[in-house]
Order: sequence, then C-alpha cells, then structure tokens
Amino acid sequence: MDLGIRGRKAIVNGASAGMGREAAFALAREGVELCLSARGAERLHATAEEIARETGTKVLPILADHASEEGRLRILAACPDPDILVSTCSPPRMTPDYRQIELAHWREALDTGLLGPVQFMHAVLEGMVARRWGRIVQIATVAAKYPLELRILSGGPRAALANYCGAVALRVIQHGVTINTVLPGMFHTAFTAKQFSERAQAAGSTYEEEVARFSAQMNIAAGRFGEAQDVGSLVAWLCGRHAGYLTGQSIVMDGGATRSTF
Ligand SMILES: NC(=O)c1ccc[n+]([C@@H]2O[C@H](COP(=O)([O-])OP(=O)(O)OC[C@H]3O[C@@H](n4cnc5c(N)ncnc54)[C@H](OP(=O)(O)O)[C@@H]3O)[C@@H](O)[C@H]2O)c1
Repeated sequence: MDLGIRGRKAIVNGASAGMGREAAFALAREGVELCLSARGAERLHATAEEIARETGTKVLPILADHASEEGRLRILAACPDPDILVSTCSPPRMTPDYRQIELAHWREALDTGLLGPVQFMHAVLEGMVARRWGRIVQIATVAAKYPLELRILSGGPRAALANYCGAVALRVIQHGVTINTVLPGMFHTAFTAKQFSERAQAAGSTYEEEVARFSAQMNIAAGRFGEAQDVGSLVAWLCGRHAGYLTGQSIVMDGGATRSTF
C-alpha cells in the first residue's frame, strides 16, 4: 500500500533503537525524509547510515535528549517544519515497590514521558495547522491504560500524555492534523534483550525460556513477544494519507495480553 507521504519530512525522537528505530525505517521506506534523535552517538549514527543506505532517503541524525529544552531546540533547529512527529523513549525504571519511588524518579519520568513530548508537540503543531497537514504519533505503553505497580513510572506519565493527545487532537483535526498514541505491550527490543538475557543468566536458563515464562505469567494470548517492526509499520500507517480520519486514539498492540471489548 502506498501511504502517500513520499517527500514529507519527519522528526523521529528516540530513533536509534527499538520501536522508534523501526518507525523511522518504515517511514523511510515510504520515501519520508528523516531527522532522527537519540542521546547515544554510536547507535544513532549507525541507524541513520543503515536507513539511508537501505532506503536511499535523506536522514539527518541529531544527538539530543528530547526531555531537555536544549535538546528539543537542537532538533527543531535542524528540522523546524516537520510534517510528521513520532516520539518515544526507553522504558522507564521498574518499580516493584511503589514505596521506593523517589521524587527524583518521578521528575525524570515526567520530563521524558510527558513534559518533553508535550513541549515538542506544542512547538510543531502551529506549523502543521498553518500548512493544513500533520501527523503526530506517540509510542507510549500499554501500562498507561492498564495500571501495574511495576510500571507506575512508565504508565502514569504516559496516561497523562495519551489524555493530552486526545484532547488536543480534537482541536487540530479540522486543519488536517491527527494525533494518536500507540500503546505497546511486550516486544523484542534492545531493552527486553538486556532485561531477559540478565534474567536468563541469573536463572541458568535461556532468553527464549524467560520470554516464554513471562508471556505465560502475563497471559499474553499470542504466547510470545511482538516484533518491533510491527509497531513501526503501524506508526507509518498512522502517518499516512489514509489515516486522516483517525485521531485522538490510544491503540493497544500487545498480542492479546489485555482484554476489553472496546
Ligand atoms: N520493549 C518493550 O517490550 C516495551 C513494553 C512496553 C512498553 N514499551 C514502551 O515502548 C517505548 C519504546 O521502547 P523500546 O523498547 O523500543 O525502547 P529502546 O529499545 O530502549 O529504544 C529507545 C530509543 O529512544 C532513545 N531515547 C531514550 N530516551 C531518550 C531521550 N530522552 N531523548 C532522545 N532519545 C531517547 C534511545 O536511544 P538513547 O538511549 O541513545 O537516547 C533509543 O533510541 C517506550 O516508551 C517503552 O516504555 C516497550
């Protein structure tokens, strides 16, 4: 399917690994020009080179923390008038005991998971509205919708982010701008590779065994983790011309781990 976005310009924040990387790849395959950001230089430059080589699209890597004002300004200076904004971050720290969450942990999670993305959207929305076309997709977490003590710092800020996106989406849809949130469950990414390899090492098992054990514990109906490429494809579709009537939604993609009719 041609998504009709060839030649559009996109900023992908959090693009050097995991789902952000796959979203960038999927947009590049549609002929979208990219400005990619992340904090670590090595992975960012490797990803930018790989995407440019494989797709032939223009890719500009920007070393920046999009949770900071300085980082956001650097990204926006490189791409001041994006048609598309995709944003994500690494999963925040686990919180097995809510009593051990410190104020500094909240501040960090709120800056990265809520305030940074909100400020960034604020900075690009006026231009999208004036040009009468825009697409924003936040890659958040299923923990935003389904509370879990372990994921308080992940779900809490992103529940607020999804709510903000839903509210602002209603204001800008009549100008051709959509805002949606993707809520992923468990996926094979750099983060899960590290986490479940460490578990396997501690338990004397394998990564695959630990993933299978966790999938059973969490009632993931698919019985497995998802592939980050599937999130990437969904994000690209949400950025496409066929998605102009879909806005303000929080879309769960979790292999059937959570259940509700609507
Ligand atoms: N993986 C899962 O199974 C899973 C499950 C549920 C929800 N999620 C959610 O899905 C989203 C993506 O997760 P993922 O597993 O794909 O993450 P990941 O593999 O850790 O990749 C995150 C990307 O964002 C970049 N990044 C992180 N913080 C940043 C910041 N402040 N500024 C700029 N770049 C930043 C990272 O590069 P640098 O570190 O170099 O900056 C990396 O490129 C997260 O919101 C996570 O909570 C993931």
